[in-house]
Amino acid sequence: MQLVVPKNDIQNFRKKVKEYYFSNKRPMPWRETTDSYAIMVSEIMLQQTQVDRVIPKFEAFMDAFPTVQDLAHAPFKNVLTHWSGLGYNRRALWLHEAAQSIVREYNSIVPDSIESLVKLKGIGHNTAAAICAYAFNQPVVYVETNIRAAFIHYFFPDREDVHDDEIFKIASEALDKNSPREWYWALMDYGTFIKKQHKNPARKSKHHTKQSKFEGSRRQVRGEILRYLLVHDSVSVQHITESIASHSHSVEDILQDMVAEGLVIQDKSTIALP
Ligand code: ADE
Repeated sequence: MQLVVPKNDIQNFRKKVKEYYFSNKRPMPWRETTDSYAIMVSEIMLQQTQVDRVIPKFEAFMDAFPTVQDLAHAPFKNVLTHWSGLGYNRRALWLHEAAQSIVREYNSIVPDSIESLVKLKGIGHNTAAAICAYAFNQPVVYVETNIRAAFIHYFFPDREDVHDDEIFKIASEALDKNSPREWYWALMDYGTFIKKQHKNPARKSKHHTKQSKFEGSRRQVRGEILRYLLVHDSVSVQHITESIASHSHSVEDILQDMVAEGLVIQDKSTIALP
C-alpha cells in the first residue's frame, strides 16, 4: 500500500507515543489480565464512561460476576445493581444478553474475531476491535475518540473536518503489528493526554460527537426510573410518573421507550424489571 505520509513522520509519531507511555502509563485493572471476558466487560463500560469512574465499578462487577457463565445466569436485577452509577443502562442489558449468547452459542468462550463479536448485543466495530487488540493481541485497526485526538494533533494540526478514512490509513501504518496490545495502551494514554493538554483535537474530526448534558436529560429520567424499580420491584405506571417529576419530558413516553427496548416490562398498568 502507498504510504500516505512520509515514513519518517510515522516513525517519529511512534517514538513519541511510546516515550510518553513509557514514563506515564496509567495502571488499569483490565490491563493486568488477558481474560477476554473481563476485557469485554471493561470495553463496554469504557464506551461512554471515563477510566477513573469505571475502575471501581469494573472491580466490583468482576467480583460479583467473575465468569461469563456467572453473568449469563445472574438475574438482570443483580446486573443492573452493579451497573448502577455508570449510566447508559441499556449497556447492562446488552452485556447480559451478550453473555447469554456467548454461553449458548460459543461454548462460554468470547469469540476472537471482529466479525463474530459485532453479532453480540451492544458490541459495535470499535468495541469488537478493542477486544481483539487487548484480549487477543490482534493487529486490528480502529479509530475512536482518544485515537482520533492523537492522530489529528500530530498529523492534521491545521485541518478541520478530518475524515476517519484519513486517520484509518495513517493508523494502519503506525500500528505496531508485533505488539498491538501494548501499542493501543500507549496510543490511548497519549490520546487522553493530548485531549487534556490541547483543546480536544478530536473535535476537528468529521465524526466527533459530544456527550449530551446529563442534568435535565432523558438519560437522567431513565436512570431514576431504573433506580426506583431496583427498590420497589413492580409499580404502577401512574405511581412512577407521579414519583418522578420531570419538567421537560413525559415520563410515560420515556417508559414506553424503555419497554420497547426491553429494559423494563409492562403488564397492563404495572411495570417491573425484566
Ligand atoms: N485500555 C484498555 N482499554 C482502554 C480504553 N477503552 N480506554 C482507555 N484505556 C484503555
